[in-house]
Amino acid sequence: MRTTVTVAALAAAAAQAQDLNQTIVGCVEVECPAAADNVNDNCAIADTGSFPSIGLTRVPTGNSALSGLSWVKGFNITDSSSGRAFHSSFYLGTPPDLNLTNSTGACAVFLHGASGSLSFGQNETSATAQGTCADAMGSSCVDALVSRARTLVEGYAGEDDRPSISDACARLQKDLEDGRDDACASISGGDWNNFVGVDLTGEGAPQPLSQQQNASSTCWPVIPKQDELTLISEYQTPGSDLIEDAERAQWAVTPVLTVFYSAGDGSLVTDVDASLSCIKTMGPARASLDTINDGSADPDSGATALLPSGSWIPIAFAATLATIIVSYVS
Ligand SMILES: *[C@@H]1O[C@H](CO)[C@@H](O)[C@H](O)[C@H]1NC(C)=O
Ligand SMILES: *[C@@H]1O[C@H](CO)[C@@H](O)[C@H](O)[C@H]1NC(C)=O
Ligand SMILES: *[C@@H]1O[C@H](CO)[C@@H](O)[C@H](O)[C@H]1NC(C)=O
Ligand SMILES: *[C@@H]1O[C@H](CO)[C@@H](O)[C@H](O)[C@H]1NC(C)=O
Ligand SMILES: *[C@@H]1O[C@H](CO)[C@@H](O)[C@H](O)[C@H]1NC(C)=O
Ligand SMILES: *[C@@H]1O[C@H](CO)[C@@H](O)[C@H](O)[C@H]1NC(C)=O
Repeated sequence: MRTTVTVAALAAAAAQAQDLNQTIVGCVEVECPAAADNVNDNCAIADTGSFPSIGLTRVPTGNSALSGLSWVKGFNITDSSSGRAFHSSFYLGTPPDLNLTNSTGACAVFLHGASGSLSFGQNETSATAQGTCADAMGSSCVDALVSRARTLVEGYAGEDDRPSISDACARLQKDLEDGRDDACASISGGDWNNFVGVDLTGEGAPQPLSQQQNASSTCWPVIPKQDELTLISEYQTPGSDLIEDAERAQWAVTPVLTVFYSAGDGSLVTDVDASLSCIKTMGPARASLDTINDGSADPDSGATALLPSGSWIPIAFAATLATIIVSYVS
């Protein structure tokens, strides 16, 4: 699989390798605090959500003016009177000296519909599965999507009546969803829908969490810590009671297309910069490692043996169980 990666993907991988020690890092590296149970993590990002699992990856780019941007995904399971929900939140991490103003058009398109058929290897419920979009989708699909996005955005920006950034991002989402890339046929199989487009700059774009919000935050899941975080999008699906479904949702891979283009004087880019990031939350729980390291774990809890496949178990227990399983295998 690795032999088919493109030069661009290799360059991106090299750029990523410079700082993060894996393509996607999780709570261990971003140093999430432990949850009250001391087995799970709890990354509460200001007042925007609390997540037992987090993933962080760099946005690949060949443009040094854009380097250091990150996607962060948080996942949690919420029970309410209306039922259980699997919840994902997506944040953009921005270095403090990277001045993304509305001169630089910027869009993110989340390919939620494609997520269900993706994994980095054979095992879609693996907490520690690592990889790039080329691994999950095939490099020809990645290349086709990125190049179509680039062509589309060049087209909008070339129109006489140039669309606003938010209109351009909405059109990009729709045009990507409507189009079909043969190279992506195997992963899109009838499910090439449910894309979400968000403008990252311009009038209505989401704003970074303020210093004040950060001060009340117990967790700042980005490296380096001085980077800003902006909540870009949230995605929720109805959750079932099956542990398999919860694990599949928790460790699911979300492809995110990130596009930058010139929208005026002072733009950070001249040519369209487009890339695809595949982000998932990453185990193991940092708290579980601490527990194991200081020898206080009870290896004879027998929890793994108690779970018949397809059984219903309370989700708090399921999360603990998943963590325990992970800490045994890693
Ligand atoms: C990455 O760094 C973290 C802490 O900084 C360390 O615990 C982890 O083992 C490292 N992972 C790899 C693959 O080197
Ligand atoms: C999960 O995140 C959502 C959105 O940020 C938040 O409203 C909810 O309270 C969180 N659920 C849990 C169980 O922390
Ligand atoms: C970012 O750009 C805006 C508009 O060009 C400018 O007002 C601001 O001072 C810049 N900020 C930094 C940190 O360079
Ligand atoms: C997939 O990963 C899960 C959790 O790590 C593990 O329990 C399961 O046995 C794995 N399945 C396969 C087919 O490797
Ligand atoms: C950028 O923002 C300024 C002030 O908020 C506004 O006047 C201008 O029209 C915006 N430009 C674009 C391309 O959105
Ligand atoms: C946010 O808070 C963390 C930890 O308190 C701090 O290290 C970081 O510099 C802050 N970042 C921003 C952008 O305010």
